[in-house]
Amino acid sequence: MIPVRPRRNRTSAGIRALVRETSLTPSHLVLPLFVHESTQPQAIASMPGCCRQGIDGIVTTAREALALGIPAVALFPALPDAAKDPTAKASTDPEGLLPRTVRALKAALPALVVVTDVAMDPYSSDGHDGLLRDGRIVNDDTLPILAAMAVAQARAGADVVAPSDMMDGRVAAIRSALDSAGFTDVAICSYCVKYASAFYGPFRDALDSAPRSGDKKTYQMDPANVREAAREVALDESEGADWLMVKPGLPYLDVIARVRAQTALPVAAYHVSGEYAMLKAAAANGWLDYERCLLESLLSLRRAGADLIFTYGALDAARLLAKSGG
Ligand code: PBG
Repeated sequence: MIPVRPRRNRTSAGIRALVRETSLTPSHLVLPLFVHESTQPQAIASMPGCCRQGIDGIVTTAREALALGIPAVALFPALPDAAKDPTAKASTDPEGLLPRTVRALKAALPALVVVTDVAMDPYSSDGHDGLLRDGRIVNDDTLPILAAMAVAQARAGADVVAPSDMMDGRVAAIRSALDSAGFTDVAICSYCVKYASAFYGPFRDALDSAPRSGDKKTYQMDPANVREAAREVALDESEGADWLMVKPGLPYLDVIARVRAQTALPVAAYHVSGEYAMLKAAAANGWLDYERCLLESLLSLRRAGADLIFTYGALDAARLLAKSGG
């Protein structure tokens, strides 16, 4: 018998490049950014290397991202408590922090793809993604709030609105409101399969958006479930979503692969705040090589089936890829 030698395909960098199955380039990445009212950047302790920035700082960072080949940013507003209320009123103010940021970005960087988050939590005094009534999150009365928020973001110039709330029927409600308002070209990136995960902790520090009572388990998915993901995919497809997201990323590679197999739509993965924080913390202790682990994490998300990846490490990854020649 002729000995089988898989190692022959690993003998040199050239051979390895030729047989590489998965690619990772900056064009696959979306950089999430936190905007606040102050002009002073403010570090986020649980997310080393990330900070809340004023609008000018956001424009500078986005310019850098674009120059590195990262096509898109995803914006999250960090509002003071005084601006929050139970119905997320600030989310539809055309002069609010987020619309002003979107306008500044589109004016300075017309080619940049601007993704905006549609959910109540950054604006809600309850810290929930939906409307809280008598201790429960009510679904159907949340939908008009989300739809109005998406229209306000589109009016400011958002290219992609990204509902991250997991209410039932929100994609249809948002699509129909956008179309009625004339924003037929604004795309919807649905956080389609979003789990009730402990890995969002650092993000909630960044926005001070942790739920003031209870948790998000009545709307975000149980980490134990994967068949349920198939239902969410079918629904969001039928409601008109343009991209489908799975979130978090690395602990849910099996889910990404399942969603990839089910849909013809682009699949996004969110390498979330806790995943980023783990790498940074281990690297700070000298236990892991941050740069190599970051690239391996992102490559693994791509291998599982993600077309695009939201990651706080987008700038670092793009710089490393440029250095290594891609
Ligand atoms: C909330 C939202 C969350 C994230 C994005 N949008 C957190 C949550 O559901 O509480 C998490 C992102 C991250 O952890 O990086 N609408």
